[in-house]
Amino acid sequence: MKKYIINGGSKLAGEVAVSGSKNVVLKAIIAACLTNEPVEIKNVPLISDVLVMLELVKEIGGHVKLSGHTVKISVEKIRNIKIPLEMGAKIRTSSMFLAPLLARKKEALIPNPGGCRIGARPIDRHIEGLEKMGAVSKYNSRDGYFHVRTNGLKGTMYRFKKNTHTGTETLIMAATLAHGKTVLENAAQEPEVDDLIGLLNSMGAKIKRTEPRTIVIDGVQKLHRATFEIPPDRNEAITFAILSALTGGAIYIKNIDLLDIKNFVSEFKEAGGKWEKKDSKARFYLTGYVKPTHILTAPHPGFMTDWQGPWAIFMTQAEGDSTIHETIYENRFGYVNELAKMGADLEIYQPEVVNPKEFYNFNYRKNGKHGLKIHGKTHLHNAVLNISDLRAGASLVIAALIAKGESIVFGIEYLERGYEAFDKRLRSLGADIDVIEESLEERSRYAGERGIV
Ligand code: EPU
Repeated sequence: MKKYIINGGSKLAGEVAVSGSKNVVLKAIIAACLTNEPVEIKNVPLISDVLVMLELVKEIGGHVKLSGHTVKISVEKIRNIKIPLEMGAKIRTSSMFLAPLLARKKEALIPNPGGCRIGARPIDRHIEGLEKMGAVSKYNSRDGYFHVRTNGLKGTMYRFKKNTHTGTETLIMAATLAHGKTVLENAAQEPEVDDLIGLLNSMGAKIKRTEPRTIVIDGVQKLHRATFEIPPDRNEAITFAILSALTGGAIYIKNIDLLDIKNFVSEFKEAGGKWEKKDSKARFYLTGYVKPTHILTAPHPGFMTDWQGPWAIFMTQAEGDSTIHETIYENRFGYVNELAKMGADLEIYQPEVVNPKEFYNFNYRKNGKHGLKIHGKTHLHNAVLNISDLRAGASLVIAALIAKGESIVFGIEYLERGYEAFDKRLRSLGADIDVIEESLEERSRYAGERGIV
């Protein structure tokens, strides 16, 4: 188990490179399993989610060679159609193996997927789409597996009831090798989906986005070898942008694509923030006070759910009351109680919504609370913090870096799912941060002594 010891309150400065996108590379790894020829993926972030996915490729019979930030994947033959329960439970994208397994073996055994604890995260929309393509699926609650079979996937017309990012990607991948044309309507518009389309087309697929939310796939018989470079991670870029604004505004972020974070940039300006671009590096900074904002998270091109945690930290520094209304996940305020320990004045509430079943992207159930009020400005102080999911982790680390005093942040394993060498990169910007590994016994003793649950 790992923890960070952070002495916050210092100004940070320097240059930082954004790593390859987590949410592109995880799908590129699946795409590589659609062909029996080798696929080379470059600029791979060395994060634990990638390592789990590469293990899963080996599980189904593939070969993996990781050297530095490049991985070569070759799945000449699929030898196993079952994703192990324990590994599947670690990562949501394990369910996306449905696409290569059904396309190449006509059968898949996929456990109910896991991932970060930010909501129920079912895959009903993925399964419904695959059924439209001719798959038959049965969930067995006794073994925890989806048993899915097909006599051969067929092109179809499918309209997603609600936006789903990985659901869109799973169906695109399945449709590349299906017989005939597939039209996906109300498909996700996240840039990561188009990156995946680019990779699949370079492997010989025939995929076009004909309307902003319509994707047409002409099935082909076979995909072939390709080399693909993972683009920069826009969620990581946001993390550094907010960190820069709150720690003196002198962090130059390399490899940042401002187009993919357009909505963030406009809200940042709305909050009184400034940015400049110099030789492909961007710097986000403040020249005056931070204005409160009212954010509604939404599928792309809206304000992304992954940015709401770091944004909440930003709003603790605003002069007045801000709100964030989370519409994508039903449980993405895992950082709020921790932030309150640092002196932030926060309140989870339920905003008025006329038709919540239609309005929310998750499958709505009564009694949830999906809004957050942040009463600013508060001077954050040090605390002992527990990370509950990846983006909550990045948010709490930002909070600890701006708070005066020594904070201890537990649950670094969550951060390592998506941020490569985070502590090292923060240290290179001048952060006072140490990583300590400790045994479970040490951790429980420490928690017991301080009454941390
Ligand atoms: N949903 C269903 N049924 C489905 C599919 C989705 O109820 O069949 C619900 C989800 O539970 C969620 C909402 O619909 O409440 C949106 O889900 P979506 O499928 O769009 O997202 P995802 O596949 O769970 C991906 C990213 C997330 C990112 C969202 C939104 C990956 C591996 N994950 O998740 O990234 O927040 O899209 O863009 O691509 C992260 O990186 O930390 C992360 C969570």
